[in-house]
Amino acid sequence: MTSYKTALITGASSGIGAAFAETLAHAGSDLILVARSEGKLRELASRLTSETGRNIQVIAADLSKPECGAKLRKAVDALELSVDLLINNAGFGTTGAFEKQDPAREAEEIRLNASAVVDLSHAFLPPMLDAKHGAIINVASSAAFQPMPYFAVYAATKAFVYSFSDALWAEVRDRGVHVMAVCPGPVDTAFFEATGVHNLRKKVPKGSMVTAQFVVDAALDGLDARQRLVVPGGMTKIGAAASSVIPRSILTRVVGRLMRR
Ligand SMILES: NC(=O)c1ccc[n+]([C@@H]2O[C@H](COP(=O)([O-])OP(=O)(O)OC[C@H]3O[C@@H](n4cnc5c(N)ncnc54)[C@H](OP(=O)(O)O)[C@@H]3O)[C@@H](O)[C@H]2O)c1
Repeated sequence: MTSYKTALITGASSGIGAAFAETLAHAGSDLILVARSEGKLRELASRLTSETGRNIQVIAADLSKPECGAKLRKAVDALELSVDLLINNAGFGTTGAFEKQDPAREAEEIRLNASAVVDLSHAFLPPMLDAKHGAIINVASSAAFQPMPYFAVYAATKAFVYSFSDALWAEVRDRGVHVMAVCPGPVDTAFFEATGVHNLRKKVPKGSMVTAQFVVDAALDGLDARQRLVVPGGMTKIGAAASSVIPRSILTRVVGRLMRR
């Protein structure tokens, strides 16, 4: 595996972010773990420090707040660390009929899933470019590949992340920095419970749910191979391929029917 000295992982208190932390610490990286749940981050940091001897730091932050990137960069500078792998992973989804959603919660979702990815890239990309070394992994979703009725805002935030990620990839690819999007389908994490919707897991097609570790292994293999996009899992790859050939109006209506059930 390509080695990175210090990885900053957002949403490291749970699910995919925690699996990135586990894998990278054991592969020899120092870590900066970011999320709101300081207790969970400290518990993970102390276990990983004793298992690996790496320098694992914790910064508790709400990344849906304005200027989160600049604030985080200041906190990282105060630790005298420099980040050569940024993993923009924190995120959540709202689901259900659009008119029934809480506008404040959806605004928070846009700020966390989309704005924070831009803000953190502004904060941590320039030193990587100066050093001609580094990488950014943006955790988007297979929801990025088509509009999703009843998951409308979530899918739109992930389409934003995928598009932004690709554009940045093209801008910096010849300057020593790699930018990559990861677009998983359903992953067995607390994501489903965080939506607040009872039994959302039941809508997941049989056999398509993967583990957080599976996503992380695919992402880190993809990073080694300098891939622009990683779509973990066979069924998700088939879905992504279908989205690229089926007319958007048909696809959106089919997805709407599946999501409404
Ligand atoms: N699970 C899936 O099916 C799936 C599929 C495709 C893509 N994804 C994407 O994968 C990423 C990780 O999700 P997951 O599946 O691992 O879900 P998860 O277990 O619910 O983890 C979400 C992480 O985001 C953090 N977070 C939430 N709000 C935050 C805020 N305002 N500020 C800072 N951190 C915040 C949470 O920590 P705190 O609550 O401690 O802040 C937690 O660490 C998300 O971007 C999600 O959209 C998930």
